Amino acid sequence: MSTDAGAPAPASVPWSISMRDVTVRYPNGVVGLKGITLDIAAGEMVAIVGLSGSGKSSLIRTINGLVPVTSGQLTVGSHEVDGANKRELRRMRGNIGMVFQSFNLARRASVLDNVLVGRLAHTSTLRTLLGLYPEADKQIAYEALERVGILQKLYERASNLSGGQQQRVAIARALAQQPRIVLADEPVASLDPPTAHGVMGDLRRINQDLGITVLVNLHLLDLARGYGTRLIGMRAGEVVYDGSAADATDADFENIYGRSLSNEDRLGS
Ligand SMILES: Nc1ncnc2c1ncn2[C@@H]1O[C@H](COP(=O)(O)OP(=O)(O)O)[C@@H](O)[C@H]1O
Ligand SMILES: [Mg+2]
Repeated sequence: MSTDAGAPAPASVPWSISMRDVTVRYPNGVVGLKGITLDIAAGEMVAIVGLSGSGKSSLIRTINGLVPVTSGQLTVGSHEVDGANKRELRRMRGNIGMVFQSFNLARRASVLDNVLVGRLAHTSTLRTLLGLYPEADKQIAYEALERVGILQKLYERASNLSGGQQQRVAIARALAQQPRIVLADEPVASLDPPTAHGVMGDLRRINQDLGITVLVNLHLLDLARGYGTRLIGMRAGEVVYDGSAADATDADFENIYGRSLSNEDRLGS
């Protein structure tokens, strides 16, 4: 696309995350997180692994302020999330890119319009309503699409894209926020193995090239081993493993899953 935007936007300083004895109890009494204490440094690439129901989504949603902390302290960047009001949480969320299993795109809208949604936190409401994005925002959107390799799909309707391409649009939308953290909740669970590896590779590149802190929820052990630098294993709302992803043994995964391994625990290639 055009190159007259001058120097690239300065990289945002990534954020760290600190949890001190964080418990989340849902209104129905179910405890999603049980006294979690964790420190994630700015710029880390963390794979969070566990069976369905182990608390992976609860952890990500709590960090993003979507699920309130019942007790304990949670600091994200300079934001004290526990006890923050709605306005503070909104400001914080503008800096956190979210990626979901189901992509969550506006399916009838173009790829570009979907990615420009990532600029909303930084664009005035009136301009947004009128569809008037500043040229600088469009440049940021183009760069984000280029980074995930689908700039040529700019004017396609999102629903015309393959699953892998739609997830790349969702990643580009997150990048267009110029986020300090990216939180991805099972981002490749609906994708075939080669596509899943491609999308995981994109997330890793975002972490390595831009320095953004990335947390990825996964349930497959080979993806966790291959793409995370740090592995956090969850079982029944608790952290049962925290260490190097590459060094996690099958026995470590059996402990995380609370059972012996099967073929379904690996994606393959
Ligand atoms: N909104 C909710 N209300 C009540 N219970 C919930 C809610 N969300 C998740 N849970 C429960 O919290 C536990 C952890 O769920 P979750 O964080 O979704 O795990 P995972 O993402 O690892 O599958 C489960 O027992 C689940 O049923
Ligand atoms: Mg989940």
